[in-house]
Amino acid sequence: MKPRITIIDWALSPLTDGLATVEREIIGDQAEVLCRVCVDDSEFDTSVLESQALIVWHNTPVTRAGIARLKQCRVIIRNGVGFDSVDVDAAREHGIAVCNVPDYGTEEVADHAIALAMALCRQLFPLDQEAKQLGWTIRVEPKLRRLRELTFGVVGLGRIGTAAALRAKALGFKVCFYDPYLSNGVDKAVGIERARTLEELLRRTDVLSLHCPLNDETHHLIGERELSLLKPSAFVVNTARGAVIKKTAILDALRTGRLAGAGLDVVEDEPLKTVEEAATPNLIVTCHAAFCSVESKIEMRRTSSRIALAAVRGEALENIVNGISF
Ligand code: NAI
Repeated sequence: MKPRITIIDWALSPLTDGLATVEREIIGDQAEVLCRVCVDDSEFDTSVLESQALIVWHNTPVTRAGIARLKQCRVIIRNGVGFDSVDVDAAREHGIAVCNVPDYGTEEVADHAIALAMALCRQLFPLDQEAKQLGWTIRVEPKLRRLRELTFGVVGLGRIGTAAALRAKALGFKVCFYDPYLSNGVDKAVGIERARTLEELLRRTDVLSLHCPLNDETHHLIGERELSLLKPSAFVVNTARGAVIKKTAILDALRTGRLAGAGLDVVEDEPLKTVEEAATPNLIVTCHAAFCSVESKIEMRRTSSRIALAAVRGEALENIVNGISF
């Protein structure tokens, strides 16, 4: 019997074409390819449970209970960068490798962070609204500042953080970063400044852009106290993961004018839940779309298919994130 690779899509927002054309191009006749649409892993049927490889889109959580039900799975591949939706420890305990696709959207997310930053710095949305109400008054003038006078603060100088930093630098911002896990000299290599603490970065920053992963350490990394360290004229951009910022804290800061604006591609417990949240002043929200482009999705699907194929052939895997290898 051929090994089976199952693609798990999220019922509420399917992202694979039902025929899995991109995946089949890579996998060919070397494995059976199955597509399933599930809200969560309690919906995994026998065919899914008997697969050797799972390719899982972001919004379908794979929990400890779901992993315990898998019968012969060798790898769970998260179609995306963040793998917080998969219980990686449970997978490790069951000898299942978890892999991600870390680089498919590096350019898109960096572009998106810069787009949000520029929309805030140039106040595009309030100006657009004014013009469409047939007004022509530049009410937001105090918020319009010369980029060269501003500091763009990056939290997490990895792939996306570096790409965003280089774009911000090219636009004329002074760029500074905080990343406790990088060795000395990265600042020199990229040609930007380093803050040794998050507090130092926050005090200096005019546009804060988050690019760290979500984990126990970074959950609510930005809460009331951290927001209070920013200048009241500062903007916050989050294209990382929603829960890196405490939602109630940032919405309150915007409502009270403690913060000048926020561009959030991701929000804690997304999507937004109430009209009050959506009506928060000076807030731009973009539906967790930063990764999205025609090209990035095809690249992601090709990479995850290549990893799944390697797993069913018993070959070495790329991008293992939970320390399992076979
Ligand atoms: P990466 O792993 O290359 O970089 C992450 C950086 O964050 C690393 O340099 C790491 O040292 C640093 N870091 C870790 N903990 C930190 C902390 N406590 N404080 C400061 N820095 C810390 O990851 P990459 O590819 O740059 O992606 C970053 C994040 O972007 C992902 O984890 C993912 O959650 C998010 N993302 C969002 C997308 C979207 O559509 N909005 C799409 C793709 C990724």
